[in-house]
Amino acid sequence: MILVTGGCGFIGSNFILDWLAEHEEGVLNVDALTYAANPKTLASLADDPRYVFVRADIGDRAAIAALFAQYRPRAVVHFAAESHVDRSIHGPLAFVHTNVLGTATLLEACRAHWQGLPAAERAAFRFLHVSTDEVFGSLGPNEPRFTEASQYQPNSPYSASKAGSDHLARAYFHTYGLPVLVTNCSNNYGPRQFPEKLIPLMIVNALAGKPLPVYGDGHQVRDWLYVSDHCSAIRRVLEAGRPGELYLIGGDAETTNLDVVHTLCRLLGERRPGQDFAAQITHVADRPGHDRRYAIDFSKLERELGWRPRESFASGLARTVQWYLDHAEWVAEVQSGAYRDWVDKNYGARLGVAAS
Ligand code: NAD
Ligand code: TYD
Repeated sequence: MILVTGGCGFIGSNFILDWLAEHEEGVLNVDALTYAANPKTLASLADDPRYVFVRADIGDRAAIAALFAQYRPRAVVHFAAESHVDRSIHGPLAFVHTNVLGTATLLEACRAHWQGLPAAERAAFRFLHVSTDEVFGSLGPNEPRFTEASQYQPNSPYSASKAGSDHLARAYFHTYGLPVLVTNCSNNYGPRQFPEKLIPLMIVNALAGKPLPVYGDGHQVRDWLYVSDHCSAIRRVLEAGRPGELYLIGGDAETTNLDVVHTLCRLLGERRPGQDFAAQITHVADRPGHDRRYAIDFSKLERELGWRPRESFASGLARTVQWYLDHAEWVAEVQSGAYRDWVDKNYGARLGVAAS
């Protein structure tokens, strides 16, 4: 089987569902169940004998070592992380704890397991570390897109902690020979994303009649990647990527935040005729250190492994909006007291503050 960390989060849960739909091979999902997790997302797998869930922290060396010994996975796909930039601004240490120390501990447990394997299994073993384009910092409007050769220049506590984990993964390849693959992708969107990130937050707020809080002028650019395209890229890199290499994954969909929000309002308006969702758009105080532009050149992945995204941004957004409309119960479940506390903390002082 393969071991997936963070499989109860947004991308991890989509990855596990897609994996089990395509493979006979089983999955061991190790997740600490932080605020970002929703184990009910994977309720459909409860009776699937190929699926095992264990609640554990990647920073708990003994627990992770015991799982390696018991399940002897042939690969690790490492998603578990603190993943939200705004939360990293409010509380950076949790990011250092999980993303840096947690990854280091997981790598150590993995190395011990891997070094004890027979030669053929050792050669076939893979550790795939899932990371972000944010480690490369911010692009100017006319700068070329990020490539595997881009310099690491992280600007937020989140991206700095992910950069630290990337460096550790790389070091384990160079120092110990652990067969590590690193993927750096752009902003994901799609079903099952926690409504603290831009796209689900805007959908959920729009439907609730709440303000749609656009940070600053809203002209920041992100390159949007539909989550199932990200999952297919990871499967491909796991299958055929060269250990020690970095692979960038993008959606070919550079768009400003304001354009994203206006498109969402239009898609919602088509499904709820008579409502003017764009009237809810509210410019609020900007994010400190806000990166202006991310963009990915994924030609290495296309050239070497034959991968391209299948979903266009237009079709992916329409599917995403429909998923949230069809899953009001899922949304209600994740909007617990802790979610409301976060909304007050992040937006309380921002709302009503005009963009400069
Ligand atoms: P998420 O926040 O939705 O989910 C993270 C999951 O990890 C949760 O289930 C959480 O319970 C689990 N987790 C957190 N700390 C843990 C710990 N110490 N031990 C075990 N489990 C723990 O995140 P996501 O959006 O699914 O992102 C997955 C990965 O992809 C992350 O590494 C993130 O940095 C990376 N990434 C995400 C995006 C994006 O747009 N969402 C873009 C680029 C890269
Ligand atoms: P986000 O989804 O948090 O992803 P990231 O910061 O990792 O790119 O934010 C995407 C963009 O949307 C980013 O430029 C910040 C902006 N944004 C808003 O304008 N308003 C919001 O309420 C949020 C959450 C994000």
